[in-house]
Amino acid sequence: MKSRLIIAATAALATALTTLLYSAIATAAPTRYEAEAAPAVCTGTIDANHAGYSGSGFCNGDNAVGAGAQFTVTASVSGTATLAVRYANGTTANRPADVLVNGVARSAAAFDATGAWATWATATLTVPLNSGGNTIRLSPTTGDGLPNIDYLEVTAEGGPTPNPSPCAPPSPSPSPSPSRITVWLAGDSTMADPSGGAVCPAGWGNQFAPYFNSNATVRNSAVGGRSIQTWLYDPNVTSTKNPAGECVVTPTTYSARWQAMLDPTSGMKPGDYLLIQFGINDGDSNCPRHVGSARYQQLLGVMAAAAKARGAHPVFLTPAAAITCSGSTAVGNRGFITETNTAASANGVPVIDLHRLSYTLYNSLHFCPFNGDFNSGPVGAFFCNDHTHYEAAGARQIAGVVAKALRDQAIPLAGYLR
Ligand code: GCU
Ligand code: CA
Repeated sequence: MKSRLIIAATAALATALTTLLYSAIATAAPTRYEAEAAPAVCTGTIDANHAGYSGSGFCNGDNAVGAGAQFTVTASVSGTATLAVRYANGTTANRPADVLVNGVARSAAAFDATGAWATWATATLTVPLNSGGNTIRLSPTTGDGLPNIDYLEVTAEGGPTPNPSPCAPPSPSPSPSPSRITVWLAGDSTMADPSGGAVCPAGWGNQFAPYFNSNATVRNSAVGGRSIQTWLYDPNVTSTKNPAGECVVTPTTYSARWQAMLDPTSGMKPGDYLLIQFGINDGDSNCPRHVGSARYQQLLGVMAAAAKARGAHPVFLTPAAAITCSGSTAVGNRGFITETNTAASANGVPVIDLHRLSYTLYNSLHFCPFNGDFNSGPVGAFFCNDHTHYEAAGARQIAGVVAKALRDQAIPLAGYLR
């Protein structure tokens, strides 16, 4: 009896101490981020037609999977933070959503019905945050989309979660450190490493690693001059076309570079990413580079399926644009855009439209009109002495465009960006 009393008293003391510890740590006032105000992004409209919101309105997301409300929040310390999401759901069904922190799903919210669109409720969640800026994206998982979102309040608690009792075993870390992954790159010269110490050309894949933290390793297996088919089957693609107009591949043995990615011990593993960008050489009318539309899509599907079979995540990219000006506007000049998009939806693979993003970058850098001089001016510093290939500085900027797209499109690889 006496020992039970001592145990009870000890437990009570431990609880009191823990409460004290928690309150000492978790006294920070919440910071409110309105959904209608930048830098928040609402995939939908900012509305004000249902009373009771704070600020000047709320985010009425589109009724679609992934049509999110995204907040950029600042935490003074890294560690666990409490999120309070104020929302209204005037329907009778809940509107579930994933909660992505810096692109990685960390929690989920049910967003139950609140009874009316003017009746607001608060959903509370806990997520890990980095010290400094973080994106928090509420990403609906059904076609109903999000409820209307008024604001997000963040209370950063910071530090590791305190141990409930000095005698209890340590509780698991709230945010297990992400596992180490490899980002595999397959593509052509606009993505490839420079050969033999040359300055030109340097593909964007050569400048991609600096955008990632130490948990992601970039392995660039892009090779200049390759179509998707020659990349996959070197040296077995012949210069002969078959009656269907495709280049004859014989024997149908995969290239060493693709076999390396498929290797069960040293190749793609769960959590890895495979970024694939072809389409510049594939338009050649002659073999071995020529690849027809259907064959191009088929081979993208083969690569995506092989990545998925190993637990890796494929991402397709449309080809980077060369510099072509129409007056003072840089315009697109590559093929296989539709094919890349079609293969992406057919295979359930995200696609980064690098074609559009690259010429959009050229426009923001005012490359046009261009007088054809690749040795001076902004175009000279960006491109090699042709209209296609990059110097390191240009490659670095294109790599940055791809990194930004990972964030903007909430592709979870973004969670490994610096
Ligand atoms: C109604 C309501 C909107 C809401 C929408 C929805 O149109 O007025 O505020 O966002 O339903 O179902 O998402
Ligand atoms: Ca809506």
